[in-house]
Amino acid sequence: MLQDRKIALVGCGTMGEAILQCLLAQGVATAAQISASVRSEARCSHLRHTYGIEATTCNIQAVQAAAIVLLGVKPQALPTLMPMLIGNIPPDALVLSIAAGITVQTLHQGLNHAAIVRAMPNTPAQVGRGMTVWYAASAVTRGQRSQTIALLQALGKELEVQQETTVDQATALSGAGPGFIFLVIEAMVDAGVQMGLNHAQAQTLTLETIAGSVELLRQTQQHPASLRNQVTSPGGATAAGLYELEKGGLRTTICNAILAAFQRTQQLSQPAPAKHEHGSSPRESEV
Ligand SMILES: NC(=O)c1ccc[n+]([C@@H]2O[C@H](COP(=O)([O-])OP(=O)(O)OC[C@H]3O[C@@H](n4cnc5c(N)ncnc54)[C@H](OP(=O)(O)O)[C@@H]3O)[C@@H](O)[C@H]2O)c1
Repeated sequence: MLQDRKIALVGCGTMGEAILQCLLAQGVATAAQISASVRSEARCSHLRHTYGIEATTCNIQAVQAAAIVLLGVKPQALPTLMPMLIGNIPPDALVLSIAAGITVQTLHQGLNHAAIVRAMPNTPAQVGRGMTVWYAASAVTRGQRSQTIALLQALGKELEVQQETTVDQATALSGAGPGFIFLVIEAMVDAGVQMGLNHAQAQTLTLETIAGSVELLRQTQQHPASLRNQVTSPGGATAAGLYELEKGGLRTTICNAILAAFQRTQQLSQPAPAKHEHGSSPRESEV
């Protein structure tokens, strides 16, 4: 699908490099097909030597003759990047942006380019277990949609959605989700250590419990409440723990965390306001 087509990674940091690794590891593209542009010469050198791809600090050079231009910069870099790219992206290229909160309309206007896909991957893409939600502008052709699927499937699972706001919702749930899960994991491991397990034991028990619970849910296709009831004996240990979780407002807290992430994503979609008193803008976070 992506054979012989040039893929330009404009911005190749944490997510860009994860995507690059997946494309090469899954054989979706070869090093010869990929060019990357970044800010620093040191980063260029790392990308050239590690992956054998073309890497440059010149964005215009990177996007020349590209069939797919993947925007992997942070959202706050786009206002200065887009004017540099305008008129330099091949007219028939697909632009695929992973910038949190940056709308198709902003990209369309900023780049004067219509074929745009907005995608939200997550960091488990680093090990090929990502979940990416994507929305395509109407100008994206059927062939470009197929290319998007081929590219995103290299990162894990992908889901095309018909409403752009779904990408904002996904940003809060699956984009930010790994951060929430890692905090839960930390808390469970800490509890194990508090009880006297060593750290390695506590981490193994926690990770296997989470992975096994997910697999049980997948295979039985039961509602999570039903599986929870099955492990909750009257007056037992699980019932005692669940009582504390409900008393502490875990359900509401998790729900509020995801809603807060959603609101923040929607703020990122608004035009950048003037700098704050402390010199930081709300765009300076990415997921
Ligand atoms: N991290 C996540 O969990 C996650 C999840 C989903 C989506 N995203 C999205 O992915 C995007 C990238 O995030 P990240 O965490 O990968 O950021 P990152 O590690 O900071 O990488 C950004 C890259 O962009 C390069 N860059 C910055 N300005 C540039 C410019 N003007 N021209 C060319 N390259 C430029 C940087 O180059 P240097 O290395 O030389 O500085 C760096 O390689 C964000 O838009 C974010 O919303 C992130």
